[in-house]
Order: sequence, then structure tokens, then C-alpha cells
Amino acid sequence: MESILFARGRWKPLSNSSLREKNIVFIGFMGAGKTTIGKLVAKKLYRDFIDIDEEIEKEYNMPIPKIFAEIGEKAFREKEKELIQNLCHYKLKIIWVGGGAFLQEEIRKLCLDSSIVFYLDITWDAWKSRLSSIIDSRPVLQGKSIEEIEELFYKRKEIYTNNYHSMIEISNQSMDELAESIVKTIKLSWELHETK
Ligand code: S3P
Repeated sequence: MESILFARGRWKPLSNSSLREKNIVFIGFMGAGKTTIGKLVAKKLYRDFIDIDEEIEKEYNMPIPKIFAEIGEKAFREKEKELIQNLCHYKLKIIWVGGGAFLQEEIRKLCLDSSIVFYLDITWDAWKSRLSSIIDSRPVLQGKSIEEIEELFYKRKEIYTNNYHSMIEISNQSMDELAESIVKTIKLSWELHETK
């Protein structure tokens, strides 16, 4: 069955896209701020922002915790892969992928080959203070001790740090300042690497 992303038919596929036209994919651990920052960057670059989790929720017509509970993580991961695969054939989008998407090698490879992958890095200490505000909506964190969550955090960090094109550390800057730094980095890479 055709994905909802194709069914909408508003994005033009493009092969051999120039650096300037490539999608920008944000990766990073749950609660690192991908949605907020991704939306700000999209606005500053006049691009569409696509939240893969939101697309999955629309397809199943239920929130993520319910999808995990009723349909299962395996089906969630398959849908996540299908939607990202479809989107990577398009251009000029800002795409936020869930923190678990880069666990799948096919997704990592596809995003790195087709898009600019931006990693939002956050320290464990800074992230820990956000836990209580995000745990209810993140089934992957539920039922785990703080030690288990820390282990997951560092396991994921290793995957992210080995699979990105550009990285920014989330520190005390405001979300808007971070988005501005990201936009500057992206524009600089366009200028430095653009051949035409
Ligand atoms: C997940 C992260 C979530 C969401 C789902 C699974 C994960 O997205 O995709 O709950 O495995 O890390 P965020 O990274 O936006 O929280």
C-alpha cells in the first residue's frame, strides 16, 4: 500500500539533488529538542518541517505510547523505516526522526547518503533533568531504572556520534540561538561545498 507521504502527492522526487536542495535530517536522543529546533530551522530556511513520529501517529490514528502498547514496537519501527525511505527521495525538507530511528542500519545509510544529517548532542547531566517531563510520552524509557536509561543514553550516543555530517552541542543557549547557529553552519557548508 502506498504511504500517506506519497498519497499526499505534494513533494517532487529528485535524484542527484545539489547540496543546497538536500533534506536536513535531525537526529539525537529523545527529548534533546529536535522538534523545537527543527521547526525553527525550517522557518528560517523557508522549508517544510516533517515530524516522522507525527506522521506515524496520523497513519495509525493514535499516539505513540498506544501504538507501542497495541501494535508493538516492531510495527512502529517498520512504519518509521517506510516513511523515512519515502521521504529521502524528496528534497528541501527538514525532517525530524525519532531517537530510535538510527538504530536501523538501512535508515542510517539512506539518510547519510541522501540528506544532511544534523546531530543534536546533549550531555547526560543536562538531559537527566528533562526526564520527568518526557517519560510519559516515551514508551522506550518506561519501566527502566535511571541506570538502565543512562546505559541506553550512552549506547545511542555512540550510534549518533558515528553517523552524522554536522553536530551541535545543546548547552545553555536558547532554542532560537541554537537554530541560528545551525542555519549558519548549513549556509556555510552550502557555500564551501557547492560546485555550481
Ligand atoms: C523513540 C523516540 C521517540 C519516538 C518513540 C521511540 C526512541 O522520538 O520515536 O517514542 O526509541 O528513541 P523522540 O526522539 O522525538 O523522542
